[in-house]
Amino acid sequence: MTAFSADQQTHQQAADHTAEPFPQDFRWGVATSAYQIEGATAEDGRGRSIWDTFCDTPGAVLGGDTAAEAVDHYHRYREDVALMAELGVNAYRFSLSWPRIQPTGTGPAEQRGLDFYRRLVDALLEAGIEPWVTLYHWDLPQALEDRGGWPERDTALRFAEFAALAHQALGDRVKNWLTINEPWCAAYLGYASGEHAPGRREPAAALEAAHHLLLGHGLALEAMRGQRGDTRIGPAVNLYAVSPAGDAPEDIDAARRIDGLQNRFFLDALLLGRYPEDLLADLAPFDFERCVHDGDLKTIAGRNDLLGINYYTRHTVSGRPGEASQAASSPFSSVSPWVGSEHVRFLGRGRPVTGMGWEIDPEGLREVLDQVHRGYPPVPIYITENGAGYEDAPGPDGTVQDTERIAYLEAHLRVCRQAIADGIPLKGYFTWSLMDNFEWAWGYSRRFGLVYVDYATQRRLPKASAAWYSRVIRRGGLPD
Ligand code: NOJ
Repeated sequence: MTAFSADQQTHQQAADHTAEPFPQDFRWGVATSAYQIEGATAEDGRGRSIWDTFCDTPGAVLGGDTAAEAVDHYHRYREDVALMAELGVNAYRFSLSWPRIQPTGTGPAEQRGLDFYRRLVDALLEAGIEPWVTLYHWDLPQALEDRGGWPERDTALRFAEFAALAHQALGDRVKNWLTINEPWCAAYLGYASGEHAPGRREPAAALEAAHHLLLGHGLALEAMRGQRGDTRIGPAVNLYAVSPAGDAPEDIDAARRIDGLQNRFFLDALLLGRYPEDLLADLAPFDFERCVHDGDLKTIAGRNDLLGINYYTRHTVSGRPGEASQAASSPFSSVSPWVGSEHVRFLGRGRPVTGMGWEIDPEGLREVLDQVHRGYPPVPIYITENGAGYEDAPGPDGTVQDTERIAYLEAHLRVCRQAIADGIPLKGYFTWSLMDNFEWAWGYSRRFGLVYVDYATQRRLPKASAAWYSRVIRRGGLPD
């Protein structure tokens, strides 16, 4: 860590000449989630989550990896807060493990679970780092899945109770709350393609899950607002730039459908209080509207204080048949056959990709920001995730020179800076992730961290990108 700090100092001397117009109160953050970092899955009364079960399912997670230990953050949180303080971030986004607080998803709080988060929040505040809590980052208590999971309306009600319980306990010190993280992934990867927990392949259930996740958001918002008025609450959605592969009407229609399922379904519900008409027509064969009760959309669109956007890449889609070899690796490609988009193909454009196979497309971030800014009522926007996964490893000198990650982050931050200059109310940016961690179905094979973790020893080693991000934060922006 000493070399890391010396590097920061050298660059700080040049800070005055390179100040950039990111607003003074811009949130410079890093993000994680409970299941991906905590480990300690059987400690202090924690119940099981759907991801514990999924990890125990042969073939579900690459290499048979599990998160039973993950990066042992549960025991090393003080060290991790110290790393963040060295980085110089002023905000940290992390999630609460629902089964740590309510082992079976209902009933009174497990105080030992809550105490862990109280200690973490206190450590953050002492370090001058603002805590940003995500309430649902995919680790549903297994007991609730046993009762049907997110396709059941009752799960949304249980989630609101959990949110109220956590907000009651931590709301005096945590002022920024994200309700649901990437409901698209939780619904479609979990219940349609089966690539994520709970591994179900039931397209109609996935659509119901999507609605109930949104309903859970709305009910949580209502419950939390009823408790106190000084916290800011909103969802975190994963948005993609979507473009047709060509001018053919089939391609343009494919882009409409994918933008509908991926982006507008969530944005329209959350910010306008309705589902897009064209999408409802597409989804008619699934009888989707059956699960949407009177008043649900009003609840879902209850006043959001902020919108979290997770952005990684673009979908380029075609509605015409073609070569399988043109297929792109896109989180959506595995799901589309299940949800009424069977004739859509996801194509690569030959652009550089990250270690996840996702095309690097910073302009797509601007398109997504424009889509939200132009198409919806004004709302403060935070990039709650952006980052790149690779198979990083220390070089011969023992350091991790992750220059591709630096280039990725820099290109996206330039887009952010321009967006702010153009009047988009973008208020903060959280890099995914603070440190390498359990990348869901990819296990530990892909690393997104600014900090390298040696999984055998749990030793943390800041990568070159950590020093780079730290310099950016300390000078308040990017050099020209
Ligand atoms: C989105 C998810 O919220 C996060 O958990 C995941 O690790 C990153 N994207 C990278 O795939």
